[in-house]
Order: sequence, then C-alpha cells, then structure tokens
Amino acid sequence: MRIAYDLIGSRETGAVAIVEPVEGVSPEKLADEILRRHPHVKSVLLKAGEREGEFRVRPLRLVAGSEDTEVVHKEYGLRFKLDPRLVYFSPREAEERRRVASQVQDGELVYVMFAGVGPYALVIASMRRALVIGVELNPHAARYFGENVRLNRLGSRVYPIEGDVSYVSPALYGKFDRVVMPLPKGAYLFLRHALKSIRPEGGYLHFYYWGGDDVFQRGRELVSREALTLGLQAIYLGGRKVSSYAPRVWKVRLDFKVLSFNVK
Ligand SMILES: C[S@@+](CC[C@H](N)C(=O)[O-])C[C@H]1O[C@@H](n2cnc3c(N)ncnc32)[C@H](O)[C@@H]1O
Repeated sequence: MRIAYDLIGSRETGAVAIVEPVEGVSPEKLADEILRRHPHVKSVLLKAGEREGEFRVRPLRLVAGSEDTEVVHKEYGLRFKLDPRLVYFSPREAEERRRVASQVQDGELVYVMFAGVGPYALVIASMRRALVIGVELNPHAARYFGENVRLNRLGSRVYPIEGDVSYVSPALYGKFDRVVMPLPKGAYLFLRHALKSIRPEGGYLHFYYWGGDDVFQRGRELVSREALTLGLQAIYLGGRKVSSYAPRVWKVRLDFKVLSFNVK
C-alpha cells in the first residue's frame, strides 16, 4: 500500500506519524500499517485540513496511539522538542535549513523572524559561531524554542523572543548582518521590518515566498520595491525552489544582498 507520511521524533523518545488520507482506505487501516512498519511510533495523526491561521498549524486527528503527541525530533545531532498539534514543524526542511546556515559567516548577528520551535536559529548557531535572535508569535512554539535552546546547550548563542515581529523588530532595527524570513505565505507583509533590521553597512536577506511560474519575478519585485521606498538597494543573488505545494506551485527562497545607496 502506498502511504504518504512524515515521522517526527526519534527512536529513543518515540515518534508521531503524520499521514495523508488515502481515498478508499480507512484511517485506522493506515495507522495499523504505519505502526507495523515503525514500532517506535507512539501516535498516528491524520491530516485533517490545510495549515491555517497565523501560527500555520495543521488540524490533525489522532487515529491511533497515545494522546501525548509531544516528541523530541533529531536532526543532524540537534534535538527539537515539539508537539505538532500545537506548532509548525516540518522534518522535510532539514536540508533547506542547512543550506541557509551554510551561507552564514562566523561572527554574524542573525535575525530569524517567524522562528517556530527554533530549527533555523539552532541549525545556524550549531554550524557557525554566530549570534542568533529568533522571534515567534505562537506561545507554544516560543516555549518549545526556549526549551530547545537549553536542550542543545546553545544558550550563549541563541536568544528566543516571544512576540510579534511587527512589534519586536523596531527595537532591533539596524543591528543585523542577516535576516531570515521563513513564512512563505506572509513574509512579504513584514519586508519593511526585515529591511530596516539590516545594518546600515549592509547585509543579507533570505525571503521565502510562494506561487506559480512567475514566483521568482514577483518575489524580486516585492523586495526591490520595498527596499527602494526605504532608500535601499536589494541585489538579487539567486533563488531556489524549496518544495512544491501543488503541481506548478512552489515554496521558494530568494536571497538578496541589501545595501544603502550611499554605501560603496
Ligand atoms: C511557516 S512557520 C515556520 C516556523 C519555523 N521557522 C520552522 O521553519 O519550523 C511560521 C511561523 O511564524 C510564526 N508567526 C506568524 N506570524 C508571526 C508574527 N507576526 N510574528 C512572529 N511570528 C509569527 C507562526 O506562529 C509560525 O510558527
């Protein structure tokens, strides 16, 4: 039987399986098959809709196993504690996080907006001698973010803040070498804050966006236009399709170097 599912967690602490419904197959049968294949799975959760709301959490229905769906996920030696029923987390984005982190230089101050339970911030701080500030609105995610900083002993490099990027950013304007915006369906609304957070000497922006064939063109226009209104230039360095939401609809990342017009 072909079943599409993600496993979040680990063999040591148990995992949850998040499974796509299959037409004509009962959720209980899907759960039996997953539990047979993966004895360390403690709960099977069926996708019951699209990600929704500001927190980007997907409705999930427990079809088998434990009501306790909190797990500790392992990724390249890091551990992320989370409950997928309360927060956003995607194990499929491990490589993407590493690709962004590998662009960071030692000594940078990095701002991760929309930080979730902290995966980008922690991957960056584990791969580079950088200081990272992450801001997250969902109180459950922000609590896990704090726990994950401690769990990975990265408290001297990663500073989680619970709050809304719109309200937190003004106190951080002009401080960062790099800003990461991992909120494809809404980051554009916060571009002004991201651009103003970059140091006057210049820095880098990783902007996530989504759309069809013209997604890179539209993303470039959004960033360039906002930069111009602030007297900045956003030099496009390149883009990448991260994953696909539907046929010919992608989640993408666009990278920019941001400079003031008066800085050579
Ligand atoms: C797509 S998720 C990404 C989370 C995390 N970066 C990751 O990759 O796992 C976007 C996150 O942004 C948070 N968020 C949405 N609007 C926000 C805002 N205005 N300020 C801070 N965080 C926000 C959501 O709660 C959610 O956790």
